[in-house]
Amino acid sequence: MLLRCHRNKLSVWAVLCILVLLCWLYIFPVYRLPSDKEIVDEVLRQGHVWQKNRTGIDVFRKLLTDCCDPKRMFAVTKQNSPMGKILWYDGEFYHSHTVNNETYSLFVQDTPLQLPLKRCAVVGNGGVLKQSGCGKDIDQADFVMRCNLPPLTKEYTEDVGSRTHLVTANPSIIEKRFQNLLWSRKPFVESMKAYGSSYVYMPAFSMKPGTDPSLRAYYTLSDTSSNLTMLFANPEFLRTVGKFWKGHGIHAKRLSTGLFLVSLALGLCDEVTAYGFWPFSLSLDEQPVSHHYYDNVLPFSGFHAMPEEFIQLWQLHKSGTLRVRVGSCLAKGG
Ligand SMILES: *[C@@H]1O[C@H](CO)[C@@H](O)[C@H](O)[C@H]1NC(C)=O
Ligand SMILES: *[C@@H]1O[C@H](CO)[C@@H](O)[C@H](O)[C@H]1NC(C)=O
Ligand SMILES: *[C@@H]1O[C@H](CO)[C@@H](O)[C@H](O)[C@H]1NC(C)=O
Repeated sequence: MLLRCHRNKLSVWAVLCILVLLCWLYIFPVYRLPSDKEIVDEVLRQGHVWQKNRTGIDVFRKLLTDCCDPKRMFAVTKQNSPMGKILWYDGEFYHSHTVNNETYSLFVQDTPLQLPLKRCAVVGNGGVLKQSGCGKDIDQADFVMRCNLPPLTKEYTEDVGSRTHLVTANPSIIEKRFQNLLWSRKPFVESMKAYGSSYVYMPAFSMKPGTDPSLRAYYTLSDTSSNLTMLFANPEFLRTVGKFWKGHGIHAKRLSTGLFLVSLALGLCDEVTAYGFWPFSLSLDEQPVSHHYYDNVLPFSGFHAMPEEFIQLWQLHKSGTLRVRVGSCLAKGG
């Protein structure tokens, strides 16, 4: 009896140990990331060679459609989020918003884009865009996507272009840059003019504190008859895309906005070129690179896994599914 009891206790401990180990491996998986140097060498080896791979593009779009249905799900619409629908916040545990009279009326009827989009440019904000001369290339795309309300003033046009069709806006920017829109709304309205008549894509239902600022941004735009159209990112889409990349070996707590946008573009466009994605502090010719093309403010570390994300993008580049532009667009054949 005593012995049996002891044995039971032992096996309970063994099971507990295994559980703890599994949890540990889930949170801190055993994997080795190539060093920055190895990645740079690899990118240099590849050079400017790039060949579009129609099969690769179709295969990847099929994968994304199967997991995440970007065409139907990327934004919150009246179609996919009817009255009473529960939207689970993707950035928090156990918080949800039930679509009600008030919020339902803010949603677009259905995906408003003319699909499929042809040539898309996704512009990350990396310092690698400085002196790149990529502005012309970017502006020639049929659909230009940008991250996080980046500055587009004259001094940057040559490197980042000036046209925008979709721009993401984090609620935290509304808070930091525009006093949460609780005071004057004019600076916001004025600065948004840089994006013409594009879509503003806001993750209004990712974090609870982000909802109110997002709704205020919506009302500010609609009250001032802005030419911009607000689209709320669908938290279900953000969650499925996150899972998709987790399955491809990205271990960040949260994907970067840039990778979300590239995923969206790969799901919606015939051809995607990514600019300004280079999460390393040295360029290919070993010059220091600032964090953004407009400043050098570093993000919280550990939140995003940028080098990991870059490796994924580079795999897609090598297979001809996506084109990643690193460095100058002026170089011959670049
Ligand atoms: C094109 O894409 C397919 C599917 O991803 C892949 O199997 C194939 O190797 C790619 N072709 C080249 C030349 O990379
Ligand atoms: C929605 O609002 C309208 C008027 O504002 C009201 O008549 C209707 O009952 C409301 N519906 C629900 C489901 O609350
Ligand atoms: C909206 O676009 C029209 C036509 O392009 C332009 O005349 C008008 O000034 C724009 N309105 C705002 C608020 O930017």
